[in-house]
Amino acid sequence: MGQLDGKRVLLGVTGGIAVYKAVELLRLLVKAGADVHVAMTPAATEFVQPLTFRELSYHPVAVDVFEEPREWKMQHIHLAECDLVVIAPATANTLAKLAVGIADNSVTTTVLATQAPIVVAPAMNSGMWENPITQENIARLRQRGYHVVGPDSGFLACRTSGAGRMSSPEDIFAAVVEVLTRQQDWQGLQLLVTAGPTREHVDPVRYIGNRSSGKMGYAIAAAAARRGADVTLVSGPTALTPPSGVRLVKVWTTQEMRDACVKVFPKVDACIKAAAPADFRVAEPSDQKVKKEAQAELVLRLVPNPDILAELGEMKQKQVLVGFAAESQDLIKNAQEKMRRKRCDLLVANDITMPGAGFDVDTNKVKLLYPNNQVEDVELMDKSRLADLLLDRVLLLIKAR
Ligand code: PMT
Repeated sequence: MGQLDGKRVLLGVTGGIAVYKAVELLRLLVKAGADVHVAMTPAATEFVQPLTFRELSYHPVAVDVFEEPREWKMQHIHLAECDLVVIAPATANTLAKLAVGIADNSVTTTVLATQAPIVVAPAMNSGMWENPITQENIARLRQRGYHVVGPDSGFLACRTSGAGRMSSPEDIFAAVVEVLTRQQDWQGLQLLVTAGPTREHVDPVRYIGNRSSGKMGYAIAAAAARRGADVTLVSGPTALTPPSGVRLVKVWTTQEMRDACVKVFPKVDACIKAAAPADFRVAEPSDQKVKKEAQAELVLRLVPNPDILAELGEMKQKQVLVGFAAESQDLIKNAQEKMRRKRCDLLVANDITMPGAGFDVDTNKVKLLYPNNQVEDVELMDKSRLADLLLDRVLLLIKAR
């Protein structure tokens, strides 16, 4: 039995030098038992002939969107009905089109029509990869639930070194297997996720806030919804697009976040508190805009906000309760103390001094703490991948209840 027996996979191949590696990816998928159909952009066919993909997949390769369909259905609709789409290599051009919904070739039309999970393996020159436009497109695709594999760093075809090299066929294959085997394992379960900062009013225009972007919490909510969970996402103000299939409750202050969580918590199987709620609020916020001319200095008196996680810890019955801790020193000691005090079943400790970890970045580097003092060190990874890893751990805890 192959790992992917009975799975129908669409391999989208777009035009970059890494096309030759897509041949090996196809071979791995077929060897694992997947029924693989291939769609290529015209640019991709300049690098490797469709014939190679046809021979290895045992299916005709879709290139021309206007050619006579080989099935009774329109070609892109037929191709879109699959268990997973993987695009390797995914050029900057294709990623940009996918980010805004352009459908102008056999790969992009199929992606726009599909309901299946999508894995993309970017491949491009490092300047193109690092360009803020590409980074914005990737962030948008991640928010929409795309799985992004790589790119790796190393020697590039343009004879420079940097980030942009397509991940190895083995790594992309592993990501495909991971996504396919995880599908719908949260079906029937209810999850409460919190995300983003909270803001505390100073006056009608000013507030106290923090650097949380909401990316971590949104990634968890998106992954859980994809895996079949019934998700309530309680979110402070963020610039992110809400993940599809999630019940979004928008809040502004810590008190509002607390009220929303306390209402939903009794019904859920698990709660993951990735938000960064303000610990203090202004004791007497002004009804009118504070005039700077009126005073030489402005003194704000702050009073403590409710600790939502601690309150949920008190309320907890059957729920698996997961906290985050953002620490800049004594990571394990401080996080363990938080875990005990707030009665968490799992605590995700971020060392926010590490590059690529914590606030407002697309990656995170965490340690997972369990009540028996066990510590799991997790490598630096994309927040969407970390989200899936966390959901794996939480699912085990739910099943062990
Ligand atoms: O949003 P991103 O930009 O993606 O960044 C992610 C993150 C760094 C915000 C996230 O990964 C994270 O670490 N969130 C917790 C930040 C935080 O508030 O840490 P804390 O150590 O102050 O709080 C510990 C736990 O108690 C957290 O689960 C927090 O949600 C919760 N808490 C805190 C204060 C409060 N008044 N009520 C709470 O429930």
